[in-house]
Amino acid sequence: MTDLTSFVRGLPKAELHLHIEGSLEPELMVRLAERNGVSIPFGSVEEVRAAYSFTKLQDFLDIYYQGANVLREQRDFHDLAAAYFDRAAADGVVHAEIFFDPQTHTDRGIRFATVIEGLLSAMAEAEDKHGLTSKLILCFLRHLDEDAAFATLEAAEPWLDRIAGVGLDSSEVGHPPEKFARVFAKARDKGLKIVAHAGEEGPPEYVHQALEILKIDRLDHGNRSLEDPVLTAHLARTGMTLTVCPLSNLKLCVIDDMTQHPIDRMLRTGLRATINSDDPAYFGGYVVDNYLAAAEARGLDRDDIVTLARNSFLGSFLDDETVAAHCARLDAYVAANA
Ligand code: HPA
Ligand code: ZN
Repeated sequence: MTDLTSFVRGLPKAELHLHIEGSLEPELMVRLAERNGVSIPFGSVEEVRAAYSFTKLQDFLDIYYQGANVLREQRDFHDLAAAYFDRAAADGVVHAEIFFDPQTHTDRGIRFATVIEGLLSAMAEAEDKHGLTSKLILCFLRHLDEDAAFATLEAAEPWLDRIAGVGLDSSEVGHPPEKFARVFAKARDKGLKIVAHAGEEGPPEYVHQALEILKIDRLDHGNRSLEDPVLTAHLARTGMTLTVCPLSNLKLCVIDDMTQHPIDRMLRTGLRATINSDDPAYFGGYVVDNYLAAAEARGLDRDDIVTLARNSFLGSFLDDETVAAHCARLDAYVAANA
């Protein structure tokens, strides 16, 4: 392990953009397919991996929703999340705010309770086993209609005290944030935090809508905000957190090459950028791999890396006191590893 790799691995950090269904490794997919008697169109783990070649978001989503088919029982959702938390803990993640896509499962006849109880049990275990805390963010699938999102929010009602916020994911172009104005207003009224994927493939206008109509507390991806200098300055001035996902950007061709990644530009323009893994089983790496890929390609120094980790706590939905405690631990780590 190089010095930088071990420094980044040991650096306390939060992960703020992680789709739990996107952490389904091919090995677990094959095992769950067997355990549940679900047929998948792949003969082996190698065949699953070989299918992970994408030119745009939709290529990935097609295969991601297919993969999620093997998740049927509460223990499947538990095992999925437990595997993620083990890997995250090994990467120095001390807090994770994870997305789940209930509609991917309820539309296949899986009960909302099955999904969330499986996830919650793994979250409790991760805190005991690794000291890793976590929060849940329920994402609405934007390719479905707003009525379906309302039905999902209603299904979530018994668990709202264990859900930190709601988000918006899936096919971005053609499904602008304004399509979900009313359901996000209702979620806000219920005291939920608001996040949305915007500006990954969609134009800066979608980021404007996420800010002004959905009233987001955090912006997922947000890369294309940089095309609009006034928007960029607004995001910087208001301290909006961006959950940036470098390996995802590369695999989904948001950038052609990691050397073109805008992470350093984001930092220099004063944006509160963070580094995250998005769908690590599909995009070739967990959070440390994302820090290292971006750092190497864009020449980030240790101070930049520490800023990114600090931003992950500042941008989290933890209370101020807990954020301060995490930042103090981060400072102590940096001082001890200077
Ligand atoms: N973008 C949109 N939807 C998603 C993604 C993403 O990167 N990952 C999982 N669902
Ligand atoms: Zn995402």
